[in-house]
Amino acid sequence: MAKKTLGVAMIGCGSIATHRHAPEAAAHPQVKLLTLCDPVLARAKALADTFGGTPCADWRAAVAQPAVDAVVVACPNYLHAPVTIAALQAGKHVLCEKPMATSAAEATAMMAAAKASGKTLMIAHNQRLAPLHIRAKQLLKSGILGRIVTFRTSFAHPGPEGWSVEGVGGWFFQKEKAFVGAMGDLGVHKADLVRWLLDDEVVEVAAFVEAIAGKRQSDVDDNAICLLRMASGAVGSLTAGWSHNPGCDNSTVVYGEKGILRIDTDPVYTVIVELADGERQLIKTKAMQTNDEGGQTDSGIMATFVESVNTGKCPIPGEEGAKSLAVILACLESAETKRFVSVGSVLAGV
Ligand SMILES: NC(=O)c1ccc[n+]([C@@H]2O[C@H](COP(=O)([O-])OP(=O)(O)OC[C@H]3O[C@@H](n4cnc5c(N)ncnc54)[C@H](O)[C@@H]3O)[C@@H](O)[C@H]2O)c1
Repeated sequence: MAKKTLGVAMIGCGSIATHRHAPEAAAHPQVKLLTLCDPVLARAKALADTFGGTPCADWRAAVAQPAVDAVVVACPNYLHAPVTIAALQAGKHVLCEKPMATSAAEATAMMAAAKASGKTLMIAHNQRLAPLHIRAKQLLKSGILGRIVTFRTSFAHPGPEGWSVEGVGGWFFQKEKAFVGAMGDLGVHKADLVRWLLDDEVVEVAAFVEAIAGKRQSDVDDNAICLLRMASGAVGSLTAGWSHNPGCDNSTVVYGEKGILRIDTDPVYTVIVELADGERQLIKTKAMQTNDEGGQTDSGIMATFVESVNTGKCPIPGEEGAKSLAVILACLESAETKRFVSVGSVLAGV
């Protein structure tokens, strides 16, 4: 039987909508872009001209449209919860960008709205879908490294000025709209990645989350250096930065009792395994997505979302986004209180 076409409303027509969600939606045989929404109507019009659909300026009107089956939330972080909840309450499926929300209370309300509606809520943690991470996870699952002892993971680049359509001084740099800086923009990707990659949970953190580079007019952090303890006992570090210049560090290294696994540390071999007995595996996969021209499409996010709607089984539901958000919230609390913080306590209070 032919699958039902999903009519999609895109809320936010900035960079991630332009470079990932709209092209992936337009390329998907089961998706029809119906509504492109942005208060800067020219941005909505530009996307509609390229990918089809009708521009609109008001997200409340967009999510209420009867023909819309699913909503992609690709606007500034402070709008993720209100847009997602309104869309779920209107009976739409939702694909929401990261970080899922700006607080544990918001994340909890989003999960409750998904449960009440029976619709799919997926969080766009695309790093889980990248071929190099899938290959690395297969290797770790095979037990090749034995028990995992420590790890380090990093996501850092010069900053979102050259990426966001709002550029210098835009919403990414305003606490009331972003709620957090590099830690929420990039750190949440790696918090989610290590949880998924190691099949483990972060239970305790200690962190510096600061505007260390201090090169911009902004009230959010530009660097975060965090220590994470996992439920298994493994300990690792997470770095998020908006001052690595030039280039981008999107790497992860896992140290086990039998060897080391390196992800995205080499320009040719995206996954490298070095075992204590001298064996080496040099593996080439498709490279990690980048902010370079054309570097964001084919992430697998839209295809995974559509499959989740079709099957009713979502691999990255709100619950997963909330656990990764909780790591960020715990790191912020640790940085503020100068204490170790239990991640469980962050979600438990809601
Ligand atoms: N998963 C990823 O790899 C990834 C990468 C980049 C951005 N993101 C996330 O995507 C979201 C958008 O980021 P971006 O890079 O596209 O930012 P951007 O600054 O390029 O675009 C944001 C857009 O949202 C619009 N907007 C503002 N208020 C709105 C409203 N009330 N209704 C509808 N639209 C509104 C702005 O006008 C702008 O066009 C953020 O949450 C960000 O964290 C995720």
